[in-house]
Amino acid sequence: MATRSRTPTHFLVSTILVLECLGSVFGQEISSGNIRCFERERQALLKLKDDFVDETGRLSSWGVEMDCCKWSGVWCNNVTNHVTRLNLRAPPPISQNGPSVGPLRGKITSSLLELKHLTYLDLSSNDFGYSNIPEFIGSFDKMQYLNLSSANLARQIPESVGNLSELTHLDFGSNSGLYSENLGWVAHLGSLQYLDLSYADLSNASNWLLAISKLTSIKEMHLANCELPGILPSSLPSIKTSAPLVTLDLSSNPGISSSTFSFFLNFTISLTSIDFSFNGITSLDNLGIGFHNQISLEHLDLSNNNLESGIPEFFGNMSSLMYFDLSYRTRELTRLGPIGLVT
Ligand SMILES: *[C@@H]1O[C@H](CO)[C@@H](O)[C@H](O)[C@H]1NC(C)=O
Ligand SMILES: *[C@@H]1O[C@H](CO)[C@@H](O)[C@H](O)[C@H]1NC(C)=O
Ligand SMILES: *[C@@H]1O[C@H](CO)[C@@H](O)[C@H](O)[C@H]1NC(C)=O
Ligand SMILES: *[C@@H]1O[C@H](CO)[C@@H](O)[C@H](O)[C@H]1NC(C)=O
Ligand SMILES: *[C@@H]1O[C@H](CO)[C@@H](O)[C@H](O)[C@H]1NC(C)=O
Ligand SMILES: *[C@@H]1O[C@H](CO)[C@@H](O)[C@H](O)[C@H]1NC(C)=O
Repeated sequence: MATRSRTPTHFLVSTILVLECLGSVFGQEISSGNIRCFERERQALLKLKDDFVDETGRLSSWGVEMDCCKWSGVWCNNVTNHVTRLNLRAPPPISQNGPSVGPLRGKITSSLLELKHLTYLDLSSNDFGYSNIPEFIGSFDKMQYLNLSSANLARQIPESVGNLSELTHLDFGSNSGLYSENLGWVAHLGSLQYLDLSYADLSNASNWLLAISKLTSIKEMHLANCELPGILPSSLPSIKTSAPLVTLDLSSNPGISSSTFSFFLNFTISLTSIDFSFNGITSLDNLGIGFHNQISLEHLDLSNNNLESGIPEFFGNMSSLMYFDLSYRTRELTRLGPIGLVT
């Protein structure tokens, strides 16, 4: 009987030893059941929670459950178990009677660095109090989606962002304190499909058009309110692009003139929406053949420019155009039928 009682105990002890060894090899906690989370990543998330000021307890569930893969806003890869997605976007403010959820405050700290496997990071709509986008953001070499929009970020956009070669979506829009003096870093983002730098001050980034012309995958671009400097017509012939742009918003950049507008018309054929409102376009007379290529164009906003001449006849040939706005200051809307505008 003695042998029968000893064997299970012995088996149990060795099983625990094996599990502990595996646990330390993989850095995971296996002993408490189905925990997938890596301890180092769990600690990093807890540190991040400490670093943020979370007035409305949005991260209060963090740490209660042992497995960080189950924490709100955290996703782990189901094969590697590494934290690959972090979505801490602040929800839009809701009615006074609803639960109170507000932005995270504080700043983006290097605790984030331990989450090396991140492919998706959304910290948008929080309030980082005019702190900067940290230089280390460029070291997440697997990052595909980075959204830091409307987050009260300021100072110079780090050029290290140009190291994120897997990036498909980059949204730094609506941070009015951001600036970049040289957009050379953008040119490296060969996988980029979506770019929003609206409200960043790009007034010294005279290479902006050259930089974005290198984006061979870009489909949607928002550079509104960027104080984009004008492009000398003499430098335009040296710039070409094969960007498959569908949506282009360069509104509220008074330095943008007819020749820049003409540049985009010449080099793109897939545009469905163009917003060049509140720019410095004075004439539509010399747009070249570009406009005739825009057979997909549905939305064209040229309101609040300084148009001195009339509307060229070929506008009437753009059969897809459904929205065409040429109003001045009043932002009055002109709706077109499928036949187009006939003057
Ligand atoms: C991992 O998740 C993906 C997407 O949710 C799913 O398609 C896939 O089957 C999962 N793989 C495993 C091993 O569970
Ligand atoms: C980034 O987040 C904001 C909300 O905070 C959202 O409106 C925007 O569409 C997001 N950008 C992308 C590229 O998904
Ligand atoms: C970006 O890449 C350059 C060279 O390719 C390197 O020197 C630099 O340290 C990188 N920056 C980051 C933040 O990874
Ligand atoms: C642009 O350059 C001028 C002159 O060097 C400098 O004074 C100004 O701060 C710069 N502004 C931005 C937003 O880069
Ligand atoms: C657009 O193409 C026309 C030729 O059709 C050319 O005359 C004009 O200079 C081009 N404009 C730009 C900005 O490249
Ligand atoms: C408009 O299209 C018609 C028919 O395709 C063509 O004959 C005409 O030349 C075009 N007009 C302009 C101004 O491009």
